[in-house]
Amino acid sequence: MSTSEHRLKHLHQRLGGIAYGGDYNPEQWPREVWDEDVRLMKEAGVNLVTLAVFSWSRLETEDGVYDFGWLDEIMGLLHANGIGVDLATPDAVPPAWLITRHPDILPVLADGSTFGFGSRQHFDVSHPVYREKSLAMAEKMGERYAAHPALCMWHVNNEYGPVSYGPHADRAFRSWLQAKYGDLENLNRAWSTDVWGQRYSDWSQVNAPAQPRTWSNPSRRLDYHRFTSDSMLEHYKAERDILRRYTPDLPIVTNFMRFYKNNDYWAWAAEEDAAALDIYPDPREEDAHVAAALNFDLMRSLRRGQPFLVMEQATGAVSQWPVNVSKLPGKMRLGSYQALAQGADSILFFQWRQASGGTERFHSGMVNHAGPNTRIFREVCELGQELKGLGSITGTRSSAKVALVFDWDCWWALELGNSPRSDLNYTQEVLRLYRHFFDANIPVDFVDTKSDLSQYTLVVLPASYLLTDESVNRFEDYVAGGGHLVASYLSGIVDPDNTIRLGGYPGALRNVLGAWSEEMHPLSGEGEAVKLSTTDGGTASADYWTEHLHTTTADVIASYASGRLDGSPAVTRNSFGAGTALYLSARVDSTFLAELLDAECSAAGIRPELDAPLGVQARRRAGNGRSFLLVLNHNDAPARVDVKSGGRDRLTGADITGTVELAANGVLVLEEKPINDATAGTGR
Ligand code: GAL
Repeated sequence: MSTSEHRLKHLHQRLGGIAYGGDYNPEQWPREVWDEDVRLMKEAGVNLVTLAVFSWSRLETEDGVYDFGWLDEIMGLLHANGIGVDLATPDAVPPAWLITRHPDILPVLADGSTFGFGSRQHFDVSHPVYREKSLAMAEKMGERYAAHPALCMWHVNNEYGPVSYGPHADRAFRSWLQAKYGDLENLNRAWSTDVWGQRYSDWSQVNAPAQPRTWSNPSRRLDYHRFTSDSMLEHYKAERDILRRYTPDLPIVTNFMRFYKNNDYWAWAAEEDAAALDIYPDPREEDAHVAAALNFDLMRSLRRGQPFLVMEQATGAVSQWPVNVSKLPGKMRLGSYQALAQGADSILFFQWRQASGGTERFHSGMVNHAGPNTRIFREVCELGQELKGLGSITGTRSSAKVALVFDWDCWWALELGNSPRSDLNYTQEVLRLYRHFFDANIPVDFVDTKSDLSQYTLVVLPASYLLTDESVNRFEDYVAGGGHLVASYLSGIVDPDNTIRLGGYPGALRNVLGAWSEEMHPLSGEGEAVKLSTTDGGTASADYWTEHLHTTTADVIASYASGRLDGSPAVTRNSFGAGTALYLSARVDSTFLAELLDAECSAAGIRPELDAPLGVQARRRAGNGRSFLLVLNHNDAPARVDVKSGGRDRLTGADITGTVELAANGVLVLEEKPINDATAGTGR
């Protein structure tokens, strides 16, 4: 067990199991409300609250004038009532006095304008005074609260992300580039600066890619993505290291967002004790649970299977969309169990008490404007009671035989524009392939392009646009050793400098795929599609993307049967060493995609976790000699599933076997008979 896992194990022991609670902002309320808060928290089964996320202006009222009195008092009150504290460093919101004194802390947009004060995340992380002052605050908080009995974990900043193009960012970017390239000539080469006459003759000329007159250099912008992720991570690490000195045994995290492009979460998660996610599926989207599932799987994968934390979710409506629809009864509970099923060890909300004023006054809380006599508070209490009985699930893991590549370099490089089409959307490409496995109840992990692949029998590369030579070698060795690989169009196109790999697309994967394309042919028209005929006599179609493909050693699985590529291959499969590599050079229709992926799964010995109707999700978590099968009915109608030898229903205490009926949006938490951990997740 790693040191981080020990810290998390200790946290859950202290909390008595699953962490339950949320962001708590007592400074927004009169003192008498605090007593009601803790009374209701106990009623709801809350065991952890996050304090001080946005409290800098209350904790340091003027430069160097600190006021921790109110925080001492609420921490004491929470502790006296058996509620633990996840204490945040408040530097997501530099206070007005600091901004007035140093207005250049405000982030500069690419067009040179500056964000104003009045919201949050209004800082340029490279600003020396911002850094100094936020580290001083971390030091103060570490010193003051290290020994506080309520303190259970640290929450650094909040949803790191603002990018700045100002002078402080310029300077820091230049140093980052100097460390990366050493010699300016290396930078000129890597950025192809001879195109459009952009050569630099002195380092002082190099700066952040602010708004250009027209399209700008994609290699420079790719490096800027890497730099901004790194520079924010550097600041997180500096805060973490301070807190670590004071509390070596407590978990330290920051909160991640769903499909968040700015930060490379693989690099970030490695520096945290757990991946922690804020997840807000839009109730207006019927299949929002599929994208949520993808994000949960990603979170669990970021620390190689270690359980993650749900740091924020909503009980009902949020306030950031054009129409903020509340969750229907039962959906909050269902979403919570979905997170648990996919590896979460906490269910936390934003926020405890719905605000009466300020930006998020219409964002739901665990206690809403109407007070505790409401459906939402009753659901909060019921869930809290249920979770109390499920502590033994914490620390258990799941296992998968399928890995999907998810990589921030690929994401950044793919979406830089000036490509064969401007609407390329990395997460949609990943989601399209992920959805098949979700629907089929086949557990998947995510990996980056550097991950060890040995535990997987099927590896999928969705639009994995940028690949290093090293990762290409790894994929080739994987297939040669008997692995099954599926790559979709726009994989392996560029090298790490964002330079095209020559000699035919997909340059990096030509060898393992046994095929190459001489031209890309995106389909332009609205609804434009071409026909495909499959080698086994079937028909299918493709839209959005096609390529003029040739095979070298691959077999043709499907060819175009209409359009300008009529007769040429669209989908191929190559035998390579002991394994196979399937290439989807076109966006094939979802029925054909499902057939192709089913065939790959069968060939790779992969079975569903449970045979269940569409919309019923099943996931297994196992460990410490126990195995839990969680079955979730995302449908608004009852569903029947065969749980075979079954086990004990942990929510009702009943022993069940065979076919059971799940209510609409219902949940089953089945503790199976003891098994050998190694068999978990293999679809037995
Ligand atoms: C999160 C943020 C919270 C709150 C929430 C509302 O992104 O961390 O502070 O604003 O969104 O959904």
